[in-house]
Amino acid sequence: MLKSHNCGELREEHAAQKVTLAGWVHRRRDHGGKVFIDLRDREGIVQVVFNPQISQGAYEVAGSLRSEYVVQVTGEVATRPKGTENRKLATGDIEVIAKEAVILNPSKTPPFYISEDEEVEESLCLKNRYLYLRRPRLKDNLILRHKVIKFIRDFLDARGFVEIETPILIKSTPEGARDYLVPSRINPGKFYALPQSPQQLKQLLMVAGFDKYFQIARCFRDEDLRADRQPEFTQLDLEMSFVEAPDILRLMEGLFTSLVKSVKPDMRLVEPFPRLSYKEAMERFGTDKPDIRFGLEIKDISDISANTDFQVFRSALDDNGKVKGICIPGCGHYTRHQLDELIDLAKGCGAQGLMTMAFTGDAVTLDEVKSAATKYLTLGQLQGIADRFEAKPGDLLLIVADKLAVVNKTLDELRRQLAQRLNLGDGSLLAFAFVVDFPFLEWNEAEKRWEPMHHPFTAPRWEDVALLDSEPARVQGQHYDVVCNGCELGSGSIRIHNRQFQERVFSLLGYSKEETENRFGGFLEALEYGAPPHGGIAIGLDRLVMLLAGERSIREVIAFPKNQNAVDVMLDSPSYVDKHQLDELNLKLKREVLRSQ
Ligand code: AMO
Repeated sequence: MLKSHNCGELREEHAAQKVTLAGWVHRRRDHGGKVFIDLRDREGIVQVVFNPQISQGAYEVAGSLRSEYVVQVTGEVATRPKGTENRKLATGDIEVIAKEAVILNPSKTPPFYISEDEEVEESLCLKNRYLYLRRPRLKDNLILRHKVIKFIRDFLDARGFVEIETPILIKSTPEGARDYLVPSRINPGKFYALPQSPQQLKQLLMVAGFDKYFQIARCFRDEDLRADRQPEFTQLDLEMSFVEAPDILRLMEGLFTSLVKSVKPDMRLVEPFPRLSYKEAMERFGTDKPDIRFGLEIKDISDISANTDFQVFRSALDDNGKVKGICIPGCGHYTRHQLDELIDLAKGCGAQGLMTMAFTGDAVTLDEVKSAATKYLTLGQLQGIADRFEAKPGDLLLIVADKLAVVNKTLDELRRQLAQRLNLGDGSLLAFAFVVDFPFLEWNEAEKRWEPMHHPFTAPRWEDVALLDSEPARVQGQHYDVVCNGCELGSGSIRIHNRQFQERVFSLLGYSKEETENRFGGFLEALEYGAPPHGGIAIGLDRLVMLLAGERSIREVIAFPKNQNAVDVMLDSPSYVDKHQLDELNLKLKREVLRSQ
């Protein structure tokens, strides 16, 4: 080894020991004839002192060192003089007095500071990802990710789970996104699809008798990217035979609770994890992935609004809509400009407008409430609204009158944005919750057909099966989600394990017999060979680590993520390929694509 110790491991007990270190120059300071280097490796940072009185040779090398040079230093560990300790560094009680120094490799000046955590333009930090990953925060995130995966493996292994890899070149799995396709050279004109998830494969493993399976699985989805979405991402994928929904939820609660206590002992949990029905989540928070760390809950004032003379409310209700709102404590003083910003935000969510109502005075009177609505309300109605929201002097009500889906979307967005502005979400709290009792199907108005709320392999509540043909909207699914701090962390369900019933569901979803056979023939056949009752879940591992790391984007916990256009700007991928490669694959590019190359 070119080193005897790691920079970050040195402590007072190493004092007077001779050590050889190798790492990167994190910072360099020249002070009164001495040079101080913060030397960094994966384990941390240590201060190295170059004193010409101790070693002229090492001092001269230090003079030519620049940020990110790779250097080997041999010297003696010394306790720092009283008063010069650095409490911010784990090694802050000691320093290394350099006797020899060798530059192992110089470095160009990096395009951004490694030693500062200031924001870097995204294209730069993706293009120079290997430099960005040198930043202690990113390094810590990847080490945390490693610990999370190791913990999960050990936890599940101890409970009898077997980790099984499933193929990456497979056939399309319906998970709601577009597939990434891979052309087959050996089978001209045919394509593999990269797995959106190993859904069918894990079910087939249940048929094979592996009653407790898991996998740290790579998944690929061609969909619009967001802070919590990447085209390739990782799931903790899990499936069990002979289980019911509560068994899976109990396992997950145990896993998350012990995981957090082990890898993030400073973070708090809400225990036991709350369980909300889909209906309750939608009514209280307007979303099925609520952030339950704070209130600002939605209240329905459709009943009061129906008796007012306010046309905005009345026409929304006449149109089968709802009038709902949230109460923002202490924001009654918002300026016109601040209110206009909120109105724009609401319009961005598709709402026609946003009714604001500021409780400026000490009492609820028509004079002391500032709102365009007051002139259409009686004092009693105003009092009724204030009571419904438990509004206090100084509060601001934000009310949306629209179709229910628009009302929910808008209030969810306003609730999240305002909580962020008012710093209501406790950063040290991980508020996990289970959302259960989802409807089995969702009506797609644009395409006039039923869609599965989760995926087509999910079972309905067995006692609702009789309603499937007559009242499909009333059927509940055996589907559950895990949410945490406003993020959908995972989804799962009890599955259909019987061929006839699975075919019936495909047909209800509008798949023709032929399409069902083409896409799922092999899978359906397997269900005929003694498929056990089974169910499972998949957790977005990137999202889990993001929450544990306190990051806002999964890009900060993925070593080499793609940008917003699904491009790897560091390796320049996707990229054009040679014509002979296309010929081998029997592919021809359209003329207009060729022209743009
Ligand atoms: P689902 O499609 O809900 O379920 O995915 C499970 C979890 O995977 C994560 N996830 C993503 N993370 C990052 N980028 C993406 N593009 C992305 N898409 C999904 C989310 C999500 O909750 N086979 C089913 C699970 C099952 O039924 O067992 C499935 O994949 O955290």
